Amino acid sequence: MTSGEAHLEVLPSADWAAAVAARLVARLAAHRNLRICLPTGETPAPLYTAIVAAEHRGDVSFAEATLVMLDEWLGLPPGDPARGDEMLRRELIGRLRVPPARFVAIDVDGPDPAAAAARHDREAAGLDLAILGLGINGHVGFNEPGSGPQDTTRVVEVAATTGEIASTRYGASVTPHAGITIGLARLLEAREAWLLVTGERKAEMLYRALHRPESRDCPASYLRRHARLTVFADEAAAEMLPDAGARRSPGPSIPTHPVI
Ligand code: PGA
Repeated sequence: MTSGEAHLEVLPSADWAAAVAARLVARLAAHRNLRICLPTGETPAPLYTAIVAAEHRGDVSFAEATLVMLDEWLGLPPGDPARGDEMLRRELIGRLRVPPARFVAIDVDGPDPAAAAARHDREAAGLDLAILGLGINGHVGFNEPGSGPQDTTRVVEVAATTGEIASTRYGASVTPHAGITIGLARLLEAREAWLLVTGERKAEMLYRALHRPESRDCPASYLRRHARLTVFADEAAAEMLPDAGARRSPGPSIPTHPVI
């Protein structure tokens, strides 16, 4: 596999969401039918707010785009507030004036989760853009520590700390212990990958992901194998990175060059 060097953009925290949104608007302007994989969580929430505002202004449309979920809990009932499909509808899809051409949720309500994972693996093939968050434990999606670069989309156990976030932060009706996630193999095959990282609490893990030897202890470290990985970090998340100051981007006015 070819190894690329991550392109790092360090943005002031106040500008981070607008800058990443501007980049996504540019991608969609150039290619309206993108297949994009989307995460849920605290990190992308302000990005989704900025994207919705851009769509309401008429700057962007998802009408021809396909949105594919990155991961989903097993064991939470439909409509549970912590479900990934609920969160994406609440924060992004349900707020768009024109819905995406397709929203590909992960079917976790059927009798056969392994079969649902295999179906989602086919949906995850051929992504144009994988938008990802970084877990405090180094996970990407539910590719928890122990995951490797050959992993495909599958049923996984989630770390206890990950499951607890569903109940403590998002009010899940039960604490989930498992989920389905797009695997690193598919994320590495996407034409482009963006890793979104904000906040001081992610600083050490971002340093490990980008600067320590790649390791199953930090699955995000394998993303460095991607030939077109951009890390969008705010200043707090970037504080442990060498040269973060030198790489600081001037903010949302940075010129964007759609390259897909
Ligand atoms: P967060 O989660 O954005 O809610 O911090 C990221 C992740 O755990 O993947």
